[in-house]
Amino acid sequence: MNNFEIRKSIYDDIRDNCNVITDNGIQLEINLELQYISTLKTAITSYIVKTLESYYERMFERENFLVKYKDDILNLPNRTPNGAFYPKVENIKQYNTVQKIVNICMGETNLVNQLESFDVSTIRIVDGTPSELDDRMSSTTKLHSDAWSGHNGDAILTIGILGDETTSLEFNEVTEGDSDLFFETQQDYVSGMKMVKKYKKIKNLEFNNMTIFDHACLHRTLKNNGGLRVSVDFGISTKKSKGIRKTKPLDKNVVHKDIQEVLNIGHTKELTATETLKQCYERIKNDNYTSVPNAHVSDNIEWS
Ligand SMILES: [Fe+2]
Repeated sequence: MNNFEIRKSIYDDIRDNCNVITDNGIQLEINLELQYISTLKTAITSYIVKTLESYYERMFERENFLVKYKDDILNLPNRTPNGAFYPKVENIKQYNTVQKIVNICMGETNLVNQLESFDVSTIRIVDGTPSELDDRMSSTTKLHSDAWSGHNGDAILTIGILGDETTSLEFNEVTEGDSDLFFETQQDYVSGMKMVKKYKKIKNLEFNNMTIFDHACLHRTLKNNGGLRVSVDFGISTKKSKGIRKTKPLDKNVVHKDIQEVLNIGHTKELTATETLKQCYERIKNDNYTSVPNAHVSDNIEWS
């Protein structure tokens, strides 16, 4: 059995103890009750609208805000070219609320009991309009595994939550390739793809459930000239595997905090942010994003 086949069994505890509605081996979907979806939608809307109001110093309506204020959102400094939308001083309170609700979802689905650890959430706002930045060597529009960008866990958990569902995420399975070296951190996604000989499509992202995709799952952002899509994603490690062990760890590897520390957010712990939106703007205004992106939500927050 090669490493790609072995990866499927890592999720057996989840199969046994959670409401798995779709099982593609290395890509699984877990049902999330409507009440949690709607609470999460409200919290994420507040997070984005608060960011708009703080940065532009005026009021924004919540109705249809992803369409009405698309350009304003895309011009916010806390959003990276891959769509990661980071917490800053002005919106950290709303970010804490989003994490609190994500934690509730992890408990309600019983996922929390199957996991060794999970990372804090990245809220992502992806533009469905192709851009010249998509040509970058580590653009998420290129096929990749998140093991290549330095993740040590087993998989990414994502929830498609708001906006245009045609701005999607495509999941694929490697059917032929070098499974021994596949999970090492790579210089960029183009180098990673040299290990893949053949792959086949599994499916596209479906909204309103929790999708777990293993680091064996090749994936890419799909841009179909649609609008903005908002999703939440974070790395997870299962109790069964405790994450991928790399033989050549590079310094950009992403390590999870202790699971209890993450679960405390919104209860006994509130995260703080390290910079304001204006400071963030000053830092990135001359960045042409030619280097490999290695930003992570943890760079932007303090735990103390
Ligand atoms: Fe990815």
